[in-house]
Amino acid sequence: MLQPNPALTSLFAQEFAWCQVQSGQTAAILTEPDSSAQYLATSLTSLSACGARPFQLMLPIDPTQQNDTAVNRGNACSTLLQGFPEVVEMLKQVDFIVDLSVEGLIHSEERGEILKHGPRMLYIREPADALARLLPTAERAQRIDCAVELAKVAKTMTVTSPAGTDLRVDLADSLVTGSRGFCAEPGSWANWGQGLIAVFPASPDVNGLAVLAPGDIVFPFYKYVESPVHLYFTDGFVTGVEGDGVDAALIRDYLDRWEDREARGISHVGWGMHEKALWHALSLYSKDEAIGVDGRAFAGNFLLSTGPNPAAGRHTLCHFDIPMRNCSVFLDGQPVVENGAIVEPTLKPNA
Ligand SMILES: [Fe+2]
Repeated sequence: MLQPNPALTSLFAQEFAWCQVQSGQTAAILTEPDSSAQYLATSLTSLSACGARPFQLMLPIDPTQQNDTAVNRGNACSTLLQGFPEVVEMLKQVDFIVDLSVEGLIHSEERGEILKHGPRMLYIREPADALARLLPTAERAQRIDCAVELAKVAKTMTVTSPAGTDLRVDLADSLVTGSRGFCAEPGSWANWGQGLIAVFPASPDVNGLAVLAPGDIVFPFYKYVESPVHLYFTDGFVTGVEGDGVDAALIRDYLDRWEDREARGISHVGWGMHEKALWHALSLYSKDEAIGVDGRAFAGNFLLSTGPNPAAGRHTLCHFDIPMRNCSVFLDGQPVVENGAIVEPTLKPNA
């Protein structure tokens, strides 16, 4: 087993303190064969130093059982717990779960089932320098809470961009979530480093056009868009992907290969709130070492996502996260983001 790095142990202790890890609490560290050995060793050491009672769970990912029509990677829908209902039952009983799975349980069905019973779950996947740079702050958490409250009372979200985006989202009965980078409350979930608001629409009234422009990012491809893509939404589903370049062709091919109507449904819409997250980070961190928190969270992006949507009662393993730059986002006609910058005074960094 690797020797933990003292600096990393201290860094993890800071994050675990944000997550209210207390003496005597049970902490499961969920791993698979390709999980970071360094982060496993550091989690065990740091949680023990906090007085918690950590233990490791290692589950096999069976590569022969993966989807044979589309590549199931980078979509934040780990299948790690599929086929292990007894492990899911056990995880419901622990206080704190560190998710070191490669893909992350973010959009898995098992995550929601476990959290209903009270455990907190923290996903750790970014490089150490990103984890340090993106640590939570009380100021940012408070701004994200404000954003959640604004979205909860809003009836519609509209989005425009100089590239031609013109999208309208009915927010009635939607599930509004703020991702603050730490999980302190029972049943809460966090991705260390994250800072954004994500709204899962329940209504099928999501209509219009999103125009992906060069520099926008498409996950799970981990790729900056280089040629414009027109994504048409009709009644909550992608009904057209147009564009002459390779970007449109990639999205079309990937969606088609899933042979799953749910893959085309709206998942979540929202915007980045993290003032230290970097748009350019994706060009420096490899796919293997980061899940792309920087790209998904940089302040003022419009984050458009398709696929699983618990508010609409839909599930699929196909999930796009598409952070778009230079958009304007309005709640009931009031701007919260203008041309890629947060303008609502209560949401601006250091407001
Ligand atoms: Fe997502």
